[in-house]
Amino acid sequence: MAVTVDAAVAERVARFGSLRFDEFVDLALYHEPDGFFAAGGGAGRAGADFLTSPEVGPLFGAVVARYLDAEWVRLGRPDPFVVVEAAAGRGALALAVLAAGPACGPALRYVLVERSAQLRARQAEHLPLVRPTEMLGPSADPEDPAPSPTQGTGPLCCSLTGLPSEPVDGVVLANELLDNVPFRLFERSTASWSEVRVARSGDALVELLVDADPEVAVHLTALAPDAATGARVPWQQGAADWLSDALSVLRSGSVVVVDYATTTAGLAARPQEEWLRTYVAHGRGDHPLARPGRQDVTCEVATDQLARVRPPSAVSSQAEWLRRHGVDELVEEGRRRWAEGAAAGDLAALAGRSRVAEAAALTDPTGLGAFTVLEWRAG
Ligand SMILES: C[S@@+](CC[C@H](N)C(=O)[O-])C[C@H]1O[C@@H](n2cnc3c(N)ncnc32)[C@H](O)[C@@H]1O
Repeated sequence: MAVTVDAAVAERVARFGSLRFDEFVDLALYHEPDGFFAAGGGAGRAGADFLTSPEVGPLFGAVVARYLDAEWVRLGRPDPFVVVEAAAGRGALALAVLAAGPACGPALRYVLVERSAQLRARQAEHLPLVRPTEMLGPSADPEDPAPSPTQGTGPLCCSLTGLPSEPVDGVVLANELLDNVPFRLFERSTASWSEVRVARSGDALVELLVDADPEVAVHLTALAPDAATGARVPWQQGAADWLSDALSVLRSGSVVVVDYATTTAGLAARPQEEWLRTYVAHGRGDHPLARPGRQDVTCEVATDQLARVRPPSAVSSQAEWLRRHGVDELVEEGRRRWAEGAAAGDLAALAGRSRVAEAAALTDPTGLGAFTVLEWRAG
C-alpha cells in the first residue's frame, strides 16, 4: 500500500527527530500519491484551488505568444525555437500560446515541464503531445546547410518531468513556479539566526528552532541587516538552483519568471502569515503545518536571493510587461471584433469581449498586475 504524506512526515520525524522546512514542504506538495500537487490540486477555476494568469483566460497566453515572436526575431529566427514552460500544470498557458498562432509556430518546439504526474496526464487531454525524442532530437547543425527533417514542422509539443538536458535556443518560462519551490525558514535571534524545523508533539506537527547553519546566517544578515529579533525570512536555495539550471539550458535566449516577489528585507519587515500562505478550494488554508498534502503552501519570492545567481536583465510589474508586449492592442482588437460580430453573437465576438475583463484582471495593480516579471538574457 502507498505511504501517505502524513505517514511519510511521521516516519522522517521519528527517524531524524525533526525535518527541515523545505523537506516538509516537498512532502506536503509533491509526495506521491497524495501531496497537494501530486494529487492533482492546483490552478484553475471551478473545482481547483487558486486562479493564475493563464487560468483567467486566453489573453495572457496571447501576450506571451507576442513576446515569444519578439524573442524569436531577436535571436535570428532559429528553427527549432524551443520554449520550455516550467510548472506547466494542466497546460492552460501552452494551449493559449498555440491558439494565438504565433509567427514562430513552424519553428516552435514547446516543452511542458511539470513535476506532478496527475497534472502531466491532464495536458494530453487537450494538447497533441509527441514523444520528447521526436522533437528534441539533434538540432540543425549551423555548419550544415541541409535542413534538419523537423525544420518548419512546428508547432510540436511534448511533456517532461524536468528541464531538458540538451542546450537549446529559445525561452524558459515559469509562471508561479518559484513560490512553490520548497524553501527553508529562518528566524532572527538576538545574536544570529535560528532555523525553523518541523517536529512532533503528540499528534500535532510543531516548529522547532535550532541554531542556523553559519553560512546561511551570513547571507541572511547581508540580505536583511535590519531584521528585528523574531523576524522571519525564507531561504530559497531551491529557487536559485532552478534558475541556475534554467540558464544553463539556454545556448541563447531568455529566462522569464513571473511571480509574487519582494526582497529578503521586505519579507523580514512583515509577519510570516502575510508571505507564507496556504490555499485550498479558492480560499486561504490553515497554518502551513496543519494539513500536509491538503493545501497549497506558497512563499513570496525573494528576488535578491535569485540575483545572487545572476542579476536579472529586466524587472517589471506584470501590468507593465503585458502592456510592453501588446495587451492593449489585443484588447482593442477584441473590442472591434465584438462591435462587428455582437449582433450575430458569434464566438469570436464573445471571445473579443471577454478580453476587456481579462485584461482588467491581469493588470489589476492590487492583484495579478502587481506580480513581478524577471527576465534574464542568456548566450
Ligand atoms: C502554482 S502552480 C502554477 C501552474 C501554472 N504555471 C499556472 O500558472 O497556472 C505550480 C506548479 O508548479 C509545479 N512544479 C513545482 N516544482 C516544479 C518543478 N521543479 N518543475 C516543474 N514543475 C514544478 C507544480 O506541480 C504545480 O503544478
